[in-house]
Amino acid sequence: MKMKAAVLGATGMVGQRFVKMLSENDWFDIECIAASKRTAGTRYGDNDLGFEYPDDILDMTIAETSKNILKEYDIDIAFSALPADVAGQVEAELAEKIAVSTNSAAHRMDADVPLLIPEVNPEHLGLIDLQRKKGWNGCLVTNPNCSTIMLVMTLKPLMDAFGIKDVKVATMQAVSGAGFTGVSSMAILDNVIPYIGKEEQKMEREPKKLLGSFSNDAVSFATFGMTALCTRVPVIDGHTESVFIELERDATEEEFTEALRSFRGIPQDRNLPSAPKRPIELRDIPQPRMHRDLGNGMSVTAGRIVKVAPRTFKYVTMGHNTIRGAVGASILNAELLKELEYL
Ligand SMILES: NC(=O)c1ccc[n+]([C@@H]2O[C@H](COP(=O)([O-])OP(=O)(O)OC[C@H]3O[C@@H](n4cnc5c(N)ncnc54)[C@H](OP(=O)(O)O)[C@@H]3O)[C@@H](O)[C@H]2O)c1
Repeated sequence: MKMKAAVLGATGMVGQRFVKMLSENDWFDIECIAASKRTAGTRYGDNDLGFEYPDDILDMTIAETSKNILKEYDIDIAFSALPADVAGQVEAELAEKIAVSTNSAAHRMDADVPLLIPEVNPEHLGLIDLQRKKGWNGCLVTNPNCSTIMLVMTLKPLMDAFGIKDVKVATMQAVSGAGFTGVSSMAILDNVIPYIGKEEQKMEREPKKLLGSFSNDAVSFATFGMTALCTRVPVIDGHTESVFIELERDATEEEFTEALRSFRGIPQDRNLPSAPKRPIELRDIPQPRMHRDLGNGMSVTAGRIVKVAPRTFKYVTMGHNTIRGAVGASILNAELLKELEYL
């Protein structure tokens, strides 16, 4: 039987894609579309939308986001695309009763909340036992920041094969990452902006939780060096990242490339609906326009791999920021919750 879903923040950049992807997903049915007071009460189809939707979705009335949606709608899981300052309270309130799979940063670093990439750290779902111990009947899982996902998908196989000492990354991030009303065209066209508020801090701390080890109901953070410099560029979708990595153990370019090529995880083993066949696609020159839709937007593309010194490599990684970096990531997290019977 299909799970009944709510989408919170359904009128925004990420929320609209949630509604689109969930309306095409065999495991979930959309029961409730919610946003702010500003649009609550309006017909979804009368808002400024960037996708085509079936009529039954367009005709839904937007609810106001609050825990009260549970009184009006029968919901198994809420997908959240709320701004972080709004998400904190309402996501925790909903998680007392139902599952919440969120994109928002509000709970990412909480000690009892899994920050999850299903191919990377499915064992961190063990943190849900802590949530149940504090009385929640539901649960809360988060996906990382959009640029962190593209990076960590490639760091995981490298860490397993060779160990990681230090990572430096410079990002070139798409405008869709800033939200529907995010960056003005006058600011970004014919320009590059080498600053994105709070992004570098997220990129520097989230990989250490994601790649940390889980035991005794806690995650011990990974200890490699991690430095990020984040830049906004005039690309619509697709974050590209230049990575400089120092490994613990030496490798040849062939061994390095093979570690990325052969990377697989539980979503591939269990054939989850949103899982790409190959989590990492290799291309000589990864580019957003050419490669962001590989694996239906769920594959990360890596390339330009060069060994520059013993144990030291440079490479490029790129992925679709609102699919693998946001909505697809959150839906894959929910599919894993269901597969492992947390839902
Ligand atoms: N864009 C990306 O690539 C990306 C990637 C990963 C994570 N994220 C995260 O996902 C979240 C959403 O990002 P976005 O880019 O989709 O933002 P956005 O386009 O600005 O959309 C924000 C959504 O939240 C709703 N909202 C705003 N204030 C609210 C309030 N007080 N109460 C209830 N709903 C409220 C808006 O509803 P109204 O239309 O009614 O105002 C809208 O639906 C953020 O936390 C962001 O950091 C974004």
